[in-house]
Amino acid sequence: MNREKILKASKIIRDSQYLTAFTGAGISMESGIPPFRGPMGLWSKYDPSLFDISYFYKHPEKSWRLIRDIFFETFKDAKPNRAHLVLARLEEEGILKTLITQNIDNLHFLAGSRQVIEYHGNSRELRCIECGEKTTATTEILESLPPRCNCGGILKPEFIFFGEGIPEEAVRRSEEAVRKTDAMLVIGTTGEVFPAGMIPEAAYSKGASIIEINPEPSNYTYRITDVFIREKAARVMGILYEEL
Ligand code: APR
Repeated sequence: MNREKILKASKIIRDSQYLTAFTGAGISMESGIPPFRGPMGLWSKYDPSLFDISYFYKHPEKSWRLIRDIFFETFKDAKPNRAHLVLARLEEEGILKTLITQNIDNLHFLAGSRQVIEYHGNSRELRCIECGEKTTATTEILESLPPRCNCGGILKPEFIFFGEGIPEEAVRRSEEAVRKTDAMLVIGTTGEVFPAGMIPEAAYSKGASIIEINPEPSNYTYRITDVFIREKAARVMGILYEEL
């Protein structure tokens, strides 16, 4: 582990007035959840168009079968790892002000983080496409597919599909956070998906220091990253926390 970079990153964090974290699928790899891209990525096994909102409305049962197998089954037993837990602790200690995540695996929520903006929604809840009623996603409710609301309407996961817009509340809260951000931890993301991918760029363009944790370079690394710690998140976050 590059000690000099750890010391530089921990100084940026200590000196920050408004630290934000921006996380992607990589932070959950060590919790056993596969990423979307890269050798083991979901998109190397499944055609992303099957996760388009138009496919869901046309073939709700087929779409739900994929969604349950790929997401809900995988998320069910996943536990937050050290990286999630350290971010929750940094929030508790008032060091981390906001956490913006692209992930829908609920692991930040389970780790105890509450100042979280779920930019792509979450898999805790389902919403009826007829009456809009929300309900909690339980194993029972997912036994028969597609799951239905009491009104008879089909229930859709509260995460966004390709072709859907970002929840307005998430956009508003993220823009507000970026305006105040003077340091950002960018953890486990390729930065290849937009508009989420613009968030670190916006922070950088406002003068924020960018600390990136990723075992591989990303879309950000050689353009906006000030401190690139080329390691897995769980290990680094534990060491970083000890230095604060
Ligand atoms: N620690 C930190 N980063 C890791 C680790 C690890 N242990 N293992 C892998 N990574 C990095 C990879 O190097 C890669 O940069 O995590 C990143 C995973 O990239 P993606 O799978 O593309 O995930 P992400 O960037 O979050 O995708 C963004 O794309 O398909 C959409 O909606 C989906 O939210 C997702 C969005």
